[in-house]
Amino acid sequence: MNCCCATNSFKEGANSFFSRYSAMYARRFRKHGLERVQKLLLQGVRTEQVLDKEILDIGCGVGALHLTLLNEGAARATGVDISEGMIERARKFSIDLGIADRAAYVVGDFVEVAETIRESDVTLLDKSVCCYEDIDTLIRTSTAKTKDLYALSHPRQNLFMELAFKGHIAFARFFKWKFHPFWHDWKKLRENIQNLGFELIYSNATPMWQVLVFKRN
Ligand SMILES: C[S@@+](CC[C@H](N)C(=O)[O-])C[C@H]1O[C@@H](n2cnc3c(N)ncnc32)[C@H](O)[C@@H]1O
Repeated sequence: MNCCCATNSFKEGANSFFSRYSAMYARRFRKHGLERVQKLLLQGVRTEQVLDKEILDIGCGVGALHLTLLNEGAARATGVDISEGMIERARKFSIDLGIADRAAYVVGDFVEVAETIRESDVTLLDKSVCCYEDIDTLIRTSTAKTKDLYALSHPRQNLFMELAFKGHIAFARFFKWKFHPFWHDWKKLRENIQNLGFELIYSNATPMWQVLVFKRN
């Protein structure tokens, strides 16, 4: 895709898809806490001090990551998500945890709302880069907001994950679903982030997800 933003039809599809699943994400977080991939991501982020830091969580879902960091003493967090359902549940968690005064939420495509979002010390993109087609613009706009750490998870670059994603995409296209995930060149993604002035400081993986944490040079 050569234009700068996602189409309205994609956004509607992603909103309705993830809003439908938001109750399940919330139930899982309430019952089991962080997923394995999220624990690894935070392990990478904690190589630096998070106390008093400003967090930006892009594709934040129900807020598991930034709510955890706020509980650990981060100053403030902004959660951005295309899905209204996800944001509604993240906001509710922040109220229940008594930290709503330090959490701000924005419903929208990050690329489109980026201008209205403050800079962050730590930016998180957990399993969201595979939900967005124009990955170069997403990476460029989000790294531009990041003063220090840039942490993300993406599907592992292996045959099993590639076939699983491509099968899902083909199925969704055949049945004309409004939303489907995207398979990108993950090696190139890493190089792009490095070329934007970041150094890889942490790398780990679950069987399905690759976790990378970069630090601004
Ligand atoms: C697979 S879910 C992961 C949610 C959460 N990070 C987690 O791991 O529990 C991906 C989320 O990213 C959001 N998303 C994808 N691209 C986005 C973008 N450009 N701006 C804002 N949200 C985005 C989707 O709406 C969805 O809620």
